[in-house]
Formats: sequence, structure tokens, C-alpha cells
Amino acid sequence: MANLASNLHPWWLLPVSFLLVSNIHHCVNAEPQVPCYFIFGDSLSDSGNNNNLATTAKVNYSPYGIDFPKGPTGRFTNGRTMQDIIVQLLGFQEFIPPFATSKGRQILKGVNYASGSSGILNESGQQLGDRVCMNKQLSNHQSVISTIAKLLGKRSASKLLRKCIYAVQIGSNDYINNYFKPEVYNTSRLFSPEQYAAYLIEQYSRQLKTLYNNGARKLAVFGVGSIGCTPNAMVIHGTDSSTCVEKLNNAAQLFNERLISLVDELNTNLRDAKFTYLNPTGATSTKALGFTVINAGCCRIGSDGELCLPGSEPCGDRSKYVFWDAVHTSDAWNEIIAEEAYGAESSGQAYPLNINKMAQLHINNDADEDICGHCVI
Ligand SMILES: *[C@@H]1O[C@H](CO)[C@@H](O)[C@H](O)[C@H]1NC(C)=O
Ligand SMILES: *[C@@H]1O[C@H](CO)[C@@H](O)[C@H](O)[C@H]1NC(C)=O
Repeated sequence: MANLASNLHPWWLLPVSFLLVSNIHHCVNAEPQVPCYFIFGDSLSDSGNNNNLATTAKVNYSPYGIDFPKGPTGRFTNGRTMQDIIVQLLGFQEFIPPFATSKGRQILKGVNYASGSSGILNESGQQLGDRVCMNKQLSNHQSVISTIAKLLGKRSASKLLRKCIYAVQIGSNDYINNYFKPEVYNTSRLFSPEQYAAYLIEQYSRQLKTLYNNGARKLAVFGVGSIGCTPNAMVIHGTDSSTCVEKLNNAAQLFNERLISLVDELNTNLRDAKFTYLNPTGATSTKALGFTVINAGCCRIGSDGELCLPGSEPCGDRSKYVFWDAVHTSDAWNEIIAEEAYGAESSGQAYPLNINKMAQLHINNDADEDICGHCVI
């Protein structure tokens, strides 16, 4: 009897698993958890905005994109950026288009304004060439929302924009391509690390309020990662026998501490909006996650010491590498961080809430106010 029962068991399960499969098929056309997702930032989020700019900070060449369906797109990694993966976790069927090539009604689902080498400060990254700094990304967004208002009418545009998530990750280049490049920039002579963090956060605060004034009500702000642990930082600055460059990580930490306070302040003062801080470094050790190479990039690095050598053959097992090139992380690592930002329950990773919870938040939509009181439609 026992035998018969266990023989029968798979039989009974079959229809159930068929049901599950057909449910999954139904879900393919399901709506994403938020109707739109806008992305602001630097090379960690860029998906092609620099391709036609005069800059060395662009990567629309092989081996970048080796694990991305469309090949090299301008993403600074082998596959997807962290933002790409969050967009998938939210249930979008397509990635958010880069501002440089977005068109038509596509923009109703969001736009990616991020630009490699850009920073909170206009001048950060300028030694590498052209880039779209955060202030310019915000003015590009104003022109996009004007177009949305023309497509939908002001009232509907305003309602839509309140439901979107606005993801912002910027600040790394204000350190690695400004403060810690004293041969090009004056900032390290003008400011102590504490003063510089305060100065950056003051600008950043203004920029986030501009987003709010343009109708954003769900804002996900990512801190600056461990910029002292990139293979490039270790080569340039040396590590004093520790595993990372402490002065870079300490500066990033000062910035992140102030950013968390800023999130608190904005949540207190702008009560009809929700801001959240996402920790850009993982909660679990790289070793425990199966990453075996943490101090070298997967691809062969070119003479700039940062980006992959064009046309070179990268490493074989890319899932074992935290870094893809000497500065940017691999698809495998981005997936870990994206999943934490999306679903982490600990306030160390997502404060005060994760992206999944932010998506579910109900934002008061009755307000009849004009999103574009502060911009030109
Ligand atoms: C920074 O750039 C923005 C637009 O890109 C411009 O309006 C602003 O005046 C610039 N600020 C400084 C201090 O140069
Ligand atoms: C740096 O500071 C010096 C002296 O104060 C000034 O002459 C120079 O223009 C500054 N350079 C930059 C890039 O701001």
C-alpha cells in the first residue's frame, strides 16, 4: 500500500504543476508593481546615455554586455546593472530605456537618465570628457514630464508620476573622479572629508527636493558603495596591507551617514512622500555567496586602469567574480544587491523600507496640485 501511495503521488501532483505553469504564463502579461520607474545616477546605472558623448567613460564595445541579450549597450558590466534587476523584480517586461534613445509612449513607463562619470557636482568626472551631471539629468527629467503632460493631460500625468519609483544612486564620482583626484580638483584642499560630505549632501538635498517638486513621491536613494575596495582603488592608492583603501571607504561612510539623516529629514518634512535609503553593499560575505575572486576584475583591463580592453577575452566563470572590470561589479554581484534592495527586511539594508514595500505603498492621489508648479510645461 505504501508503495502504491507513493506511486500515485506524482500523478496527483501533475495537474497541480500544470496549473502552476499556466499561471506563470498568465503572469507574463501582468502589470508591474508600479506603473513607472525613473533612474538617475552614474555608470552603475547607465544603460547607454554616454554612447554618443565625447568621453572615455563609455563602454559600447565588447566584451561589455557579453551576458546581455543585446550585447554591448553601454552598460558598464557583463550583463545587467543592479537597476535592471530591480526593474525585473518589480515585474516590468522590458528594461527602462536610456534617455538618449527613449521615444514615444515608452517614457510613460520611465526613463533612465544615468550617465557614466557623472556626479552630484557639475564638474565631477570632467577630466574624462562629456557626461550628464545630476543637475542636467534633472532638467532632462523636466522635459520628459512636460512631454508626459502633453500625452496624458496635466491631471493624469501628475497622478501617474506620483505612483512611480524614482531610483537615485550618485556620489561615487564626486569622490573617485573629484575629491580623490587632487591633481585635477581642488576639493580635497578646500574641504575636510566631513565638510565635503556635508557640502555634497546639501547639493543632493536640493536635487531630491527638485524631484519631489516635479511630482515624485516614492524615492529610493542608494548610498555610495565601498569605493576603496575596487581593484582600481587598490592599485592606485595601495592598501597598507589591509584589503581595501580605508580613506576612500571612510569618506563614503561619512557621506552615507549624512544621506541616512537626510532621508529621515525628508520623510519628516515632506509627509506626502516616502524616501528610503538602500545600502549598496551586501549584508552577506562574498565568500559565503560563492564569490571566489574579489580583488580583480573578470576582464583584461586597458591602459586607463579601469575599463576592459576592447575586444579582449574575459574570464570564463563570471559568476565567481564580484568585479567585472576594475571599477564595476558583475551581473552576478548586481543580482545579490538588487535582491537585497528589493526584499531585505533589515534596516541596515533598507531604511526605513525596501523597494517591494515602497512599491505597495499607497500614496495619496487625491491631491489636485499641479506637478509642474516649478517647471515649464
Ligand atoms: C550646474 O549645471 C546646471 C545645469 O546643468 C546649471 O544650471 C548650473 O548653473 C550649474 N551650476 C554651477 C555651479 O555651475
Ligand atoms: C584651484 O585653486 C587655485 C588656487 O586657489 C585656483 O587658481 C584654480 O583655478 C583652482 N582650480 C580649479 C580647477 O578649481
